[in-house]
Amino acid sequence: MKTVLTALVTLLVLASPVSLAEESYFVAVIGTGDMGSALGVQLAAAGHTVTYGSRDPSRPSVQELVETTGASATAATQREAADRSEIIILAVPWFAVESLIPELGDLSGKILVDITTGSQQGSDGYPELAVETSTSEQIQAWAPDARVVKTAFASATTVRDPHRYGEPVMTYIAADDREAKEIVAGLAIQLELFPLDAGPLRMSRTIDHLGILYLTPMIQGRNHTWETLPRMDMDLSCVSTEGWFEPVEDDENLARFPNLEAVDRQCAD
Ligand SMILES: NC(=O)c1ccc[n+]([C@@H]2O[C@H](COP(=O)([O-])OP(=O)(O)OC[C@H]3O[C@@H](n4cnc5c(N)ncnc54)[C@H](OP(=O)(O)O)[C@@H]3O)[C@@H](O)[C@H]2O)c1
Repeated sequence: MKTVLTALVTLLVLASPVSLAEESYFVAVIGTGDMGSALGVQLAAAGHTVTYGSRDPSRPSVQELVETTGASATAATQREAADRSEIIILAVPWFAVESLIPELGDLSGKILVDITTGSQQGSDGYPELAVETSTSEQIQAWAPDARVVKTAFASATTVRDPHRYGEPVMTYIAADDREAKEIVAGLAIQLELFPLDAGPLRMSRTIDHLGILYLTPMIQGRNHTWETLPRMDMDLSCVSTEGWFEPVEDDENLARFPNLEAVDRQCAD
């Protein structure tokens, strides 16, 4: 049965960029591996001041990365990098995060971006989530005063070359702090990715499981996996949702992403 809804639902459609994407931040990239190096180089190119936080900031490979990243980039200890920065990206393995968090000092009010895939190998060899809820909810419990945001951005290969598919790759973003989510979406847009508002932080459980699915072909020894493209042709007319879900209305967590504007959907009899 078709449900009759008279609801004002905010949907997000492509529009011209607004100012959030233009802000310049002090960003700590903790970890100088595949993902940390990809993000650091691209965020510096977008005008942010990048400090790599490393267990050994003086080692030659880290110094080479700083040089590649550009004049405003530096490397420091993990703690120094966090102290200097408003946004801290955890580009380290999940198993390293619990001991890392207390090392980062006072995280009050700082945006802590969780890009980890919190996977471990199950007894059948397949990956499974190493936490009961999600990595981000666990991190929020370890750092209660931080503004935790979940996004994996994209693969390091795509972060380095966002045009490889000819269209921007989707990145899913979840957070309880709407402004923090919008700021991280701004970074994603500057990285030429396409943010999808995944909702509050608990929705990071779904993002974590997508990460597990991303890894699955690789642990099977296959040389492919997946990334997703945006679909902008959704039918905005009313559909039956009775017994299934009610649209989110006036949700204060609903993000206004810098490259998106809200439009109204009016469903009537
Ligand atoms: N690679 C991707 O495409 C991708 C995509 C999305 C998300 N991620 C996630 O991003 C995180 C980093 O992935 P990655 O591929 O960049 O890993 P990686 O190449 O192994 O680099 C991880 C970096 O973390 C630092 N680190 C700090 N504590 C560590 C410890 N106890 N053991 C090992 N390294 C430690 C190291 O930098 P220092 O030696 O300088 O301290 C290391 O270079 C992971 O959680 C991963 O799931 C990766």
